[in-house]
Amino acid sequence: MAIVGATGLVGRELLAILSCSPLGRGPVRLFAGARSAGTTLPWRGATAPVMAAGPDVFRGVDLAFFCAGGEVSRELADAAVAAGAVVIDNTSAFRMQPDVPLVVPEVNGDALDDFESPGIIANPNCSTIIALMAVTPLHRAAGVTRMVVCTYQAASGAGHAFVRELQQQAEDHVAGRPYTQDIIGRPYLFNLFSHDSPIGPDGYNEEERKLVRETHKIWDDDTPRITATCVRVPVLRAHSEAINLTFNEPLSEADARELLAAAPGIRVVDDRKANRFPEPAEATGLDEVLVGRIRADISQPMGMGLDLFVCGDQLRKGAALNAVQIAERIFATSATEASASTAR
Ligand SMILES: NC(=O)c1ccc[n+]([C@@H]2O[C@H](COP(=O)([O-])OP(=O)(O)OC[C@H]3O[C@@H](n4cnc5c(N)ncnc54)[C@H](OP(=O)(O)O)[C@@H]3O)[C@@H](O)[C@H]2O)c1
Repeated sequence: MAIVGATGLVGRELLAILSCSPLGRGPVRLFAGARSAGTTLPWRGATAPVMAAGPDVFRGVDLAFFCAGGEVSRELADAAVAAGAVVIDNTSAFRMQPDVPLVVPEVNGDALDDFESPGIIANPNCSTIIALMAVTPLHRAAGVTRMVVCTYQAASGAGHAFVRELQQQAEDHVAGRPYTQDIIGRPYLFNLFSHDSPIGPDGYNEEERKLVRETHKIWDDDTPRITATCVRVPVLRAHSEAINLTFNEPLSEADARELLAAAPGIRVVDDRKANRFPEPAEATGLDEVLVGRIRADISQPMGMGLDLFVCGDQLRKGAALNAVQIAERIFATSATEASASTAR
């Protein structure tokens, strides 16, 4: 197994999850940029060396996780496939390629049925995964015709440099100094701002466009009308999203609550009396996506619309955990096929 981008936030989370997965029993090769090559990372009670990545490092690798940015994936993923590896890519490099499955196992795991190894599988955008974990059970029951998403995204969604600078601004604040703005370029502490991805001529930023395009690909249906406003908030970890839905068929609040309570990977947190609903601090480190504020949209005919508020750890279900779940599904299938063909 190889991890490219092992020293980053997603890479470190992958290591933590893989160390508890059967996939982590084999040898692992860790790669990063020039900055971290030559260092070590903790791995299963010992340490593993971090090496510089390059096209020649994948010989003998069966499974390669990529989490070092789109440019590195575009440069090296094909070399990993040529060496015989299944690549699970956390970046946006291949997500919209028609021949690359874009997968949330609980939502469209069957998209992996026709996958032929070696090859590339894409992990969706973190906000998209978190939204679709909550919305898909309702979509299956009543058919979402329109979805409006407003995100409240954490600093760690933009990598370790953003986290460090937000923490630095907190230290600057306590010390009464001007805020350091080397990476983010603005005050982030006690502030929020429109998502830091490029903005197109239509005024939508790239994160908003990903949410729309990727949802259509994952649902294999581009008829639901989707719009989004993506915002960065000064939370260290776990994304939150306010989601408004319009349905094709009526769905009561009680039925929605029941569907969500039974859905895999979802925990309903919806205590109106105690004013207790999903919060990023509670979602941090959890595998489940928290769903609450479940209520009928009073602006729509009864049953035809619903509002939700969701929080999910974007480093776990929004990235590393989803990638490991995909790998476990692929390699469990290969193991079954291998034993079946041996039996034949
Ligand atoms: N953060 C999230 O919540 C999240 C969620 C979903 C998807 N993603 C995607 O996952 C990817 C990684 O995100 P992150 O947040 O983990 O970023 P990060 O914390 O900034 O880490 C980036 C990693 O890439 C490595 N790297 C940089 N240049 C490299 C090169 N030329 N060759 C090999 N490795 C190189 C870095 O190594 P050094 O230590 O040497 O710098 C580091 O290990 C991004 O594409 C991001 O969009 C992130």
